[in-house]
Amino acid sequence: MDLIKYLNWRYATKRMNGTKVPNEKVERILDAINLSASSIGLQPYIVLVIEDENLRKQIKSIANDQPQITECSHLLVFAAWDNLTEKRIDDFLKRMQEVRGPLPSKMKDWEIYLKNKARNSSADDNFNWNARQAYIGLGTALIAAAAEQVDATPMEGFDSQALDALLKLDAKGFAQRPYHAIRLSRCCQRLSGKSAESSQGKRKDVYPVIIGGAKKT
Ligand SMILES: Cc1cc2nc3c(=O)[nH]c(=O)nc-3n(C[C@H](O)[C@H](O)[C@H](O)COP(=O)(O)O)c2cc1C
Repeated sequence: MDLIKYLNWRYATKRMNGTKVPNEKVERILDAINLSASSIGLQPYIVLVIEDENLRKQIKSIANDQPQITECSHLLVFAAWDNLTEKRIDDFLKRMQEVRGPLPSKMKDWEIYLKNKARNSSADDNFNWNARQAYIGLGTALIAAAAEQVDATPMEGFDSQALDALLKLDAKGFAQRPYHAIRLSRCCQRLSGKSAESSQGKRKDVYPVIIGGAKKT
């Protein structure tokens, strides 16, 4: 696979012709998001896949009338958890256990660390941390789309509060508040095997992606 070739092909597509992206390509892009790295493997965000034309028209009107929103065939909305809470961490661990069976004892340190972080940080700081993880997923989605030869545009130009209200995200504990900084970390050489919280080959089962409002299990 020549990744640089795909990345040279990619650009932020400002106009689209409405051609429907085949479902199997969308699924592969979602799988790539599921396999994305996130701090401690928590992946504290959801992805909504919006195909409904009427809903996309409403979103366009709160997104500076940007044409891609109705010209595309699939609109992916990344929504980060609005906070990090002990309940969310417990739910996550429960889900991990359901999927993987008993967790390695090392995960106890992880749980303590995360619960301390949740307790000792403000909701805003927790949200910003969650949003940074969502941006990693967004980056992965763009690369995966390029590899699938699917045109894509990353977008922030929307009224996030209005989008939260339209998609009822605040009621579900998610937020679309924009976050403007993207951090890139340098790749490092693989020095050891996979860690306990590694997403490799497991992310799909552990973290549900919401498609059109229905949970994918
Ligand atoms: C986080 C982010 C937000 C963006 N928001 C928008 C947007 O709202 N509308 C848009 O048309 N392009 C948007 N872009 C696309 C950039 O304008 C585009 O990536 C940049 O001009 C570089 O062009 P390229 O991606 O084709 O190399 C955004 C890009 C990023 C990374």
